[in-house]
Amino acid sequence: MKQASSNYTPMSNIFADRLSDVPKSFIREILKVAIDKEVISFAGGLPNRDLFPINDLKKAAEIVFEKVGPDALQYSNSEGLVELRKFISNRYKQKFDLDIPVEEILITSGSQQGLDLLGKTFLNEGDDIIIEEPGYLGAIQAFSVYKSRFNPVKINEPGMDLEALKHVFLGRNPKLIYMVPNFQNPSGMSYSDENRKEIASLLVSRNLFLIEDDPYGDLRYTGLQKISFKQLLPDQTIMLGSFSKTVVPGFRLGWIVAPKHIYEKLLIAKQASDLHTNQFAQCVLAEYLAMGGFNAHVENIRRVYNIQREAMIESIKTHFPKGVHFTQPEGGMFLWVTLPHNLSSMKLFDIAIKNKVAFVPGHPFYIGKSETNTLRLNFSSVDKETIEIGIRRLGDALRTMLEVG
Ligand SMILES: Cc1ncc(COP(=O)(O)O)c(C=O)c1O
Repeated sequence: MKQASSNYTPMSNIFADRLSDVPKSFIREILKVAIDKEVISFAGGLPNRDLFPINDLKKAAEIVFEKVGPDALQYSNSEGLVELRKFISNRYKQKFDLDIPVEEILITSGSQQGLDLLGKTFLNEGDDIIIEEPGYLGAIQAFSVYKSRFNPVKINEPGMDLEALKHVFLGRNPKLIYMVPNFQNPSGMSYSDENRKEIASLLVSRNLFLIEDDPYGDLRYTGLQKISFKQLLPDQTIMLGSFSKTVVPGFRLGWIVAPKHIYEKLLIAKQASDLHTNQFAQCVLAEYLAMGGFNAHVENIRRVYNIQREAMIESIKTHFPKGVHFTQPEGGMFLWVTLPHNLSSMKLFDIAIKNKVAFVPGHPFYIGKSETNTLRLNFSSVDKETIEIGIRRLGDALRTMLEVG
């Protein structure tokens, strides 16, 4: 019998240029190291699987098979299920008093697809885009495909560095500015209302769109809800949202909110990509939402993650040596650690793995840096007791590194 796999090696120039500078997902590489069962991993960005509403989704799926039948498995429209879009519109009304017509909501295969579609719609090679530093790796990956030029602007509580932002506009005309203003990935930081207003007044009437990516906004544990950029800059803001953190990521269901003239372009980009988002997953999610348990479910996620967040903060206070700084996020899934400036988080990673604990070193979240003194810790997918053990191990690794110098 003939071997099915081929040994044929294509000529090196057979691949398109557009992928040549796209960084690998460093996190996926790290997860391979962390696969050892004894390693406590704060490296992933996963929601807690124990909280997935399995029983309710099972019920919803059964109802969909009975009620919707074959249409739930048929090709569908590119915009997405109208029931889902109505639900999303109603939530914007309740949360922010925003009137978002369903015609401006496009259901996507996760908000990650939203990023890709925005890149496809707006970015020519060499176009300038402003991103946060540190920034969401998935956005850096998505926009890199379109060979845009990144202009990273530092964020630090209480938000974006306004002087650095002004500086970008001195020499460049960026088309897009990408932000995760609530409980940012990777840093857990949020922008204050004041900072948002100042950013808005800098951006208003410029020939640029602001992408407000908000997958974590519903996961607030303390403090008050902040203004949305859509309230401040309604004509220039494109919003991205997701059900990954509030229901399940495996359905790959997210959305884009965009003004009509942009929506039409995004729809073409979407059709070229995948015709439409998974119809069955949309039907099951719509049925689940109609069952009415969503708010209570999100409330439960908040309760559990808050316990884990507090456990991580308290353990860090107890076990980390002096001189190590960390954020205390009001929500989300991540906490950001800054080591004394001469220390490398990559070196710490090597020691930590020997101590059976993993995290993500900071450098992949920056453009063009191979070393940093920062790192990301995830607290959503590890229970309280395990967090305490893992942070103690990390504290030991830090002390080992400080002794070695
Ligand atoms: C800031 C941010 N945006 C977008 C995404 C993508 O989410 P999804 O495609 O699952 O909706 C993530 C996932 O972790 C994220 O952290």
